[in-house]
Amino acid sequence: MKQNLRILLLGSGGREAAMAWKLLQSPRTERLFVAPGNAGTEDCNVDLDPCDADAVEAFVEANGIDLVVVGPEQPLVAGIADRMAEKGVKTIGPCAKGAMLEGSKEFAKEFMFSHGIPTARFMTVTGDTLDEGINFLESLQPPYVLKADGLAAGKGVIILDSLADAKDTLSDMLGGMFGQASATVVIEEFLSGIECSVFVATDGDDYRILPVAKDYKRIGEGDTGPNTGGMGAVSPVAFADEAFMEKVERQIVKPTLDGLRQEEIPYSGFLFIGLMNVAGDPMVIEYNVRLGDPETEVVMPRIKSDFVDLLEGIADKTLALKKLETDPRACVTVMTVSGGYPGSYAKGMEISGLEKAEADGCILFHAGTRLDQLGRTLTSGGRVIACSAYGDDVAAAASAALRGAADIEFDGKYFRRDIAADLLSDNR
Ligand code: AMP
Ligand code: GLY
Repeated sequence: MKQNLRILLLGSGGREAAMAWKLLQSPRTERLFVAPGNAGTEDCNVDLDPCDADAVEAFVEANGIDLVVVGPEQPLVAGIADRMAEKGVKTIGPCAKGAMLEGSKEFAKEFMFSHGIPTARFMTVTGDTLDEGINFLESLQPPYVLKADGLAAGKGVIILDSLADAKDTLSDMLGGMFGQASATVVIEEFLSGIECSVFVATDGDDYRILPVAKDYKRIGEGDTGPNTGGMGAVSPVAFADEAFMEKVERQIVKPTLDGLRQEEIPYSGFLFIGLMNVAGDPMVIEYNVRLGDPETEVVMPRIKSDFVDLLEGIADKTLALKKLETDPRACVTVMTVSGGYPGSYAKGMEISGLEKAEADGCILFHAGTRLDQLGRTLTSGGRVIACSAYGDDVAAAASAALRGAADIEFDGKYFRRDIAADLLSDNR
């Protein structure tokens, strides 16, 4: 690959803002375009829909793009990496077949079972096998986990305490609660434990494990209320120590990459393994074929080495030659969100206090923001701005990130004050 690259990053959230921040630090980034981006990536933004493969292809050709980096899953599941490969354009992200690990929960569960990867017991149900599904539910202990097979914008998992509710919800899902995505439903045994997110960079042969993170999905403090896209994240995660990570590599990462090779599914890019620590043993909750959001907002700051070099390793199958250096400091991100999120919320609120948050030591990664014609920064989504901060330990990073989240102002702003607190109180 060339020394200096023209890079197109697809996506518009906090994850992409964090990747853009890291890419712009590399002397090897000659030019960065973000499609479509947000107010935080204004200087790089191009008006392009990441799922419109024709438009992406035309842009890549017209602008001499050397590397396409795909942030979200939808373009990958739709085959953007395959299309770019046909045109000889290097892409970070798997082909559509590999993206099935996220695009179909049934595929992912079958894959895990056939390769001996630890995960919860499950059954796949369609309208024709509803009775068998109900029998399976009856054989499980509560709570009950129901998952739409297909992509459902992070909302396709429902956990129910009562058997009666689980049966009703199973029927509703099969009846089209998430459209086609829930025409097939995966019923899973409930796993109890504490979760973490492991990100693997792979070129198909070699791999590097990025700093481990933990995200906070529920809207309310103490992990209460509905699920969101993610209210904050922390890295490192104390319980993901050397002994735990050795199990993760041996029992999960290696068998997953070996399994993909055995099944002749070419896979390069990032693999996100959502794990449950069940009494010291890692079990896979899900695979995603991209980096996590808001985990990326703590993972990018903790990568010390050049990110373009790492991406080159992935794209050119030279990852074995690449070093991954991590920053020993902890990083916490606190997401400021619009009032009402994850339900309905207002958009277009003017945001202030950004300089103050930066002066207080935060790195701000915009998520749902846009600039108006007067250059004012407005809210344009549920998750608005992630405030990331370093600290010598998790407690220091968390208090710095919280200070930044308090500095930011817009009507209806909300954020959780307990991000990372669970990792402190019981010292896990
Ligand atoms: P997913 O979209 O598969 O990540 O699921 C969303 C969330 O549901 C996960 O982050 C977990 O908190 C929870 N979850 C999913 N599957 C299970 C399971 N088998 N046992 C317990 N919790 C689960
Ligand atoms: N933070 C979880 C995800 O990106 O899916």
